[in-house]
Amino acid sequence: MLLRVEGALNKVFGNDLNPFYQLGALGFYLFWVVTVSGVYIYAFYDTGTGDSFDSVERMTREQWYLGGVMRSMHRYASDALVLVMVLHLLREFILGRYRGARWFAWVTGVVLIWMLLAIGINGYWMVWDKLAQYSAVTIIEWFDWLPIFSMPMASYFAYTDGLDNRFFTLMSFFHVTIPLLTLFMFWIHIMRISYPVVNPKRGLMWGMLLAMLVLALVKPALSQGPADLGIEPGSVGIDWFYLFISPLLDVWSAGQVWALVFGVTLLLGVLPWLPARFKQIPVAEVSLENCNGCRRCVSDCPYEAVVMRPRSDGLPFMEQAVVVPDRCVSCGICAGACPSSTPFRSDAGYVSGIEMPSLPMAGLRAAMTGDLAKLQGDARVMVFGCDNAADIAKLRSAGVAVLSLPCTAMLPPSFIEYALHEHRVDGVLITGCRGNDCYHRMGGQWIAQRLDRQREPRLRGRVERERINQFWASSADFEALSVELESFRVGLRGLASGQTETGKVDK
Ligand code: HEM
Ligand code: SF4
Ligand code: SF4
Repeated sequence: MLLRVEGALNKVFGNDLNPFYQLGALGFYLFWVVTVSGVYIYAFYDTGTGDSFDSVERMTREQWYLGGVMRSMHRYASDALVLVMVLHLLREFILGRYRGARWFAWVTGVVLIWMLLAIGINGYWMVWDKLAQYSAVTIIEWFDWLPIFSMPMASYFAYTDGLDNRFFTLMSFFHVTIPLLTLFMFWIHIMRISYPVVNPKRGLMWGMLLAMLVLALVKPALSQGPADLGIEPGSVGIDWFYLFISPLLDVWSAGQVWALVFGVTLLLGVLPWLPARFKQIPVAEVSLENCNGCRRCVSDCPYEAVVMRPRSDGLPFMEQAVVVPDRCVSCGICAGACPSSTPFRSDAGYVSGIEMPSLPMAGLRAAMTGDLAKLQGDARVMVFGCDNAADIAKLRSAGVAVLSLPCTAMLPPSFIEYALHEHRVDGVLITGCRGNDCYHRMGGQWIAQRLDRQREPRLRGRVERERINQFWASSADFEALSVELESFRVGLRGLASGQTETGKVDK
């Protein structure tokens, strides 16, 4: 279902601007919008029991064109941040990208949920309107249920003069320090990701900004009357993105809500280790005698899982590659980058500098050549695909051989040349996850750049480009992929008849 929704969004926005492909980056962006608008409104904010409400009101009414707009942007960007975060969480979960080495991003993400909610709740209290009063009283009573404080904190909220200016100074302090800690947590969250995408595409940034601006003008964020601890706030409008716990406390006991919060957090936190149909294939391994320390595996690994260390085996190279097993997601992209993975090596059991133990390069070459030898008829095609995208096994036929890899970028471009030149296959079709949506983040980009000769290892210039086709297809796009294969084969037949006429082949 997710793939279908994303496919529809691709039709509207194109793969480049599909917001679902940039949810993490959108989170960062919204955080910056919240920060900039927050800094502006902070300049006009006064701390004090009545002053807080009055200063926010002044800003909203007297300076509606800037202060009011900034306040609304601050609110709407905060709401959008929660929405984006929830979608990001669900997407990673649905795609199964929370297990194995990805546990780190997942668990730090779970911490981020509560940090962001804390900032939002704290922010609402700073307005000190009726909504703030309702939220503060319910949340403080909820915390009083825990045996933390010697006297109930709610007693401060029990009478009109219970609060003094120190409360608002404390709230302001929290509203600056928790976001700073959150920013630090963002950094930890993406620490084990190479080339993390933290800026959405420009069109998406402007689109989001415009949408929030329109919303700010059409439906400005307003306060809900000054708080008065002597009077129950009565009915208030709730921001369900941040303040959902308070209405929950109206229907459930404090203990039940704590049980829910702890339960959900614990469940999310241990999710990466719960049993599931997850196949962890063995991580990459370096073979020192085949590693010349070129660093290509380091620059291509999407998960910072390969590091360079000083040479330890006496070979005349400065460095050697070392895999950090805890970070490796077994995508095989490093093996596709290694110069010694080339199938043009003479020994049958050759070993590459970096290998996937479950799918060594020599085995890959043997499987490919075995399949190619069996191909019959014209327009014979070798299809290379990805285990996380369209199931290419179903494309296999008398004239079509298939090889599915953990990621298409595990394929060294020399394999394409090998299939076309050594085995005289008529064409090679490369497929994998949809554009901009590589399951292993960088694979689609790397393979496209290698074929375009913009990245090492490059596809050699002598390889006929018209015999290579790239078509990116998720498991929901199988039909489109099979149609593409057929039209590619038609094209190859045309190429063959053209060449026969000019006497280029069959010499
Ligand atoms: C607003 C808060 C969050 C922000 C700004 C954020 C941002 C990001 C960014 C920028 C990335 C890297 C994306 C890429 O370049 O491929 C990422 C990855 C990830 N995030 Fe978040 N994230 C947030 C919350 C969460 C939450 C709540 C979870 C789940 C509990 C989560 C789980 C993950 C996972 C598992 C990855 C790694 C995906 C992979 O390995 O390919 N994130 N996040
Ligand atoms: S298989 Fe290679 S590229 Fe992929 S995460 Fe492991 S070390 Fe990095
Ligand atoms: S790509 Fe291969 S040769 Fe280069 S450093 Fe990595 S393992 Fe060594």
